[in-house]
Amino acid sequence: MSGGERSGKEQRVVCREYCYREDERTGGAEQSQELRLRIPEVLESEYGMYVWPCAPVLAQYIWFHRVAMAGKNVLEVGAGVSLPGVVAAKCGANVILSDAAALPQCLENCLRSCAQNNLTGVPVIGLTWGEISPDLLTLPPIDIILGSDVFYEPKDFEDILVTVHFIMERNPSVEFWTTYQVRSANWSMEALLHKWDLTCSNIPLKMFNADREGLAGSNLPGRHSIQMMVITLKRGSSK
Ligand SMILES: C[S@@+](CC[C@H](N)C(=O)[O-])C[C@H]1O[C@@H](n2cnc3c(N)ncnc32)[C@H](O)[C@@H]1O
Repeated sequence: MSGGERSGKEQRVVCREYCYREDERTGGAEQSQELRLRIPEVLESEYGMYVWPCAPVLAQYIWFHRVAMAGKNVLEVGAGVSLPGVVAAKCGANVILSDAAALPQCLENCLRSCAQNNLTGVPVIGLTWGEISPDLLTLPPIDIILGSDVFYEPKDFEDILVTVHFIMERNPSVEFWTTYQVRSANWSMEALLHKWDLTCSNIPLKMFNADREGLAGSNLPGRHSIQMMVITLKRGSSK
């Protein structure tokens, strides 16, 4: 952890560093060999104020696919301090960051993360899951939706899928890349995915080199059990 500043509301903000490196196991000769980021976090117990264990894993998935990210139109939902969105933007994607419209402090976090990483012109919008708002209606075409640890309250699961399904209806080839922290064996999304004509592939962490400690130089995700999922619209869906 490094640096420290007071934000307007006398919050204590600290910056944590993350470093994504060229992967020895893939040995690819891609453009960027190393990406160093600083993500400001607010020392408060609110959900969207710091990096959750799911985020470095989703960011690693993005980093693993970094060559394909260039020029992609990406929307991050429930972004919080937006580590995955920042990595996507650094890899050349056109990123829009979003969090709940009623949580301006989270939108401020998105802006702060962009500023820390010299990202200018990244739109930050209020997008509340399940709400068909003007901001949702006026989204440009999207290729990838990112969501790190957005499935953490079962009461919100359907609202998230409503938003995702709405975007997919307009952009049928959209992929929703999401990391999920297993908190209870009783939680399941299967019925909701079926209801919203969505299909889900689980991507083993090993496939994108996220099955190790010290991911991006961070002690996250630690002992938490994280799953990486890619959710798409079922082919021929007409809901
Ligand atoms: C567990 S945190 C994850 C934050 C960040 N994605 C990460 O992994 O570090 C959940 C995020 O969802 C946001 N959120 C909660 N309810 C929401 C809603 N109804 N609509 C949109 N975002 C919401 C919170 O503000 C928070 O940023």
